[in-house]
Amino acid sequence: MSKLKIAITKGRLLEKSAEMFELAGIECEALRNPGRQLVLPIGNGMMEAVLAKSADVITYTERGVCELGIVGKDTIMEHATNLYEILDLGFGRCRFAVAGKPDTDFFTDGSRRVAATKYINVSKRYFERKHIDAELIKIEGSVELAPLLGLADVIVDLVETGSTLKANGLEILEEVCPVSARLVVNTAALKLRKREIEELTTKLAAAAKEIESKK
Ligand code: PRP
Repeated sequence: MSKLKIAITKGRLLEKSAEMFELAGIECEALRNPGRQLVLPIGNGMMEAVLAKSADVITYTERGVCELGIVGKDTIMEHATNLYEILDLGFGRCRFAVAGKPDTDFFTDGSRRVAATKYINVSKRYFERKHIDAELIKIEGSVELAPLLGLADVIVDLVETGSTLKANGLEILEEVCPVSARLVVNTAALKLRKREIEELTTKLAAAAKEIESKK
């Protein structure tokens, strides 16, 4: 059988993922210094780690070219349609929030409002649930600029420490939901390679718990 492939989100989640693999006793030297290489051997060559952008982790896992993925709940909420979320890894913790200038009367004013976000689907669902008539503008990054420049009344974005909001004179108007990294599995792979995937999940769950307890 082919090696299990796990797609890992590049950036903030990669370092924590490496820590988790190490604690789980899965060799992952290559993840510590990946250079420009995108497919890396881990577990002494028994598995492969695929480094990808978050939305692509979903695509590779959903389409089954990777059996597993490590990705934030934010990306799952925005993009995933058919994936099994097997484990909350606990790290990469932050939250979705609506934020704006301190005097923003976003929720009581009944008129149509403008929200800027990278997360159109998450925002659309949220505003529908709140019965708020909102125009959504897609922004690719540094979303905090939108209310500063007068493009939008508010943003819907991830807040971790809150320092980006603070540095730009913005504040949380309402929290939407908590977010953390998840281990996701391709649904067919979960049936076909159940034992291997369950064994790995058990090890990773214990390691993730250990990371959580060290905080
Ligand atoms: C994320 C998010 C916020 C910031 C929140 O952006 O979109 O801008 O981090 O973190 P904080 O609460 O700790 O300040 P990221 O750094 O990923 O870059 P981006 O804005 O270019 O997407």
